[in-house]
Amino acid sequence: MPLDIVFRDATVVDGTGAKSFVADVAIEGGRIAEVGAITGKSRTEIDAAGLVLAPGFIDVHTHDDFALENSPDMAFKTLQGVTTVVTGNCGTSVPGFPEWMEARKKSPSAVNVAPLIGHGTVREAVVGRSTDRHATAAELSAMRDEVSRAFDAGAIGMSTGLVYEPGRYSPAEEIEELARIVAARNGIYTSHMRNEHDGLVESVRETISIGRETGVKVQVSHLKAIGAENAPLAWEAVKEIRAARDAGLDVMADQYPYSRGSTALDQLVSADAFRASTNFGLVSAAAVMIASAPRNPGWEGRTLESVAIDLGLDAADAARRIVESEGRGCMVVVANQTEENIALILKEDFVMIGSDGIPAGSRPHPRLHHTFPRILGEYSRNRGVISLETAVHKMTGMSAQRFSMDNRGVIAPGAFADLVLFDHREIIDTGTYENPTVAPRGIVGVWTNGVRVADESRSTHAQPGRVLSHLGS
Ligand code: ZN
Ligand code: CU
Repeated sequence: MPLDIVFRDATVVDGTGAKSFVADVAIEGGRIAEVGAITGKSRTEIDAAGLVLAPGFIDVHTHDDFALENSPDMAFKTLQGVTTVVTGNCGTSVPGFPEWMEARKKSPSAVNVAPLIGHGTVREAVVGRSTDRHATAAELSAMRDEVSRAFDAGAIGMSTGLVYEPGRYSPAEEIEELARIVAARNGIYTSHMRNEHDGLVESVRETISIGRETGVKVQVSHLKAIGAENAPLAWEAVKEIRAARDAGLDVMADQYPYSRGSTALDQLVSADAFRASTNFGLVSAAAVMIASAPRNPGWEGRTLESVAIDLGLDAADAARRIVESEGRGCMVVVANQTEENIALILKEDFVMIGSDGIPAGSRPHPRLHHTFPRILGEYSRNRGVISLETAVHKMTGMSAQRFSMDNRGVIAPGAFADLVLFDHREIIDTGTYENPTVAPRGIVGVWTNGVRVADESRSTHAQPGRVLSHLGS
């Protein structure tokens, strides 16, 4: 029997962080069969001389819950080398999680999916979205049941969004109660923290305390400091996490490689962030670009400042008017971080890569299509912030271990054949804030479970992805 595929003379970066080496890699039945000098014949021979072969990238921070259903070829992911996504971040997953899981199993996409249950979605269903009070005992018990059901259906963890409605009405004690269930199921707790602005350090402490009190594994989502005046706090936050780890707590973080963020406009409006200093800071209309406005697509790509002038309103009233028209569908891109902090955080050995991309509108933040090539081409090759091997480790082996994905994230015999072949001299992000949806450069091919999902900058439309749950895949 010939092998399915053999990559010849690839420069293998195996995902463990180990030094690269030149070898052949064989795939058989969706798994890696052999690594070394392979003499056997194969149905498909791929000349990989001069190219890097790495494990398929794992995007540990996504908002792809609906995209898996609506655009199952997931080209915005596969064309940048991603073969697995963690969904349900920042407190937001889908209502009806068990049914969604069944649908994902029945209708696979191009990528593997490992789902988190969103605390905000659970609280909204039980307590309400804008209900500014603690949960009652009965409500807390209903939330516990909801989280348990999600784990029964295969959730791998729980996320919070404590700067957002409704998460911001939840005290740490509520999160702790729910995190105990997550810990008992050996899941992970990921958090978009309460305040990444002037309260960053206190928020990191709160997040770590959830791990200390419950024993749950803690992941700080998109670690950053918002606002130029708060830039020094990033280093303080890093030191807090280092100290917690030194004390034996299991705390890690993820990061996207851009100095602008992206979020839902209705959340900024409900916090009144255009008028007052809030947990988002005081947001300037000139720093906000509209990424998606399904009812008024002409606004996409424009700043809030310029739309406000058209509407004859001040920034806060214009934002409110936009939300009245768009509901929750308006996403924005906000300039709010420093380049220096991106490199500072990326160097830490507890930090992995997650895009935080939001698939909506014609001007999504470029992180949606370009995060992984940008780390490899810009931060690793061009700027030398981290080595190629470390960069790949932070998007493969480290991530698979963190999110309990067995036999993924490494190139080794027996591992699933999630693979990306790329040209290390060429790989780079090409998307800008103005033109974000073009394909990145330098990706040669991408395979999920041994099936090719991307051929250079084209999707093959194959859908070999699986659901990776703690119940087994
Ligand atoms: Zn977030
Ligand atoms: Cu997010």
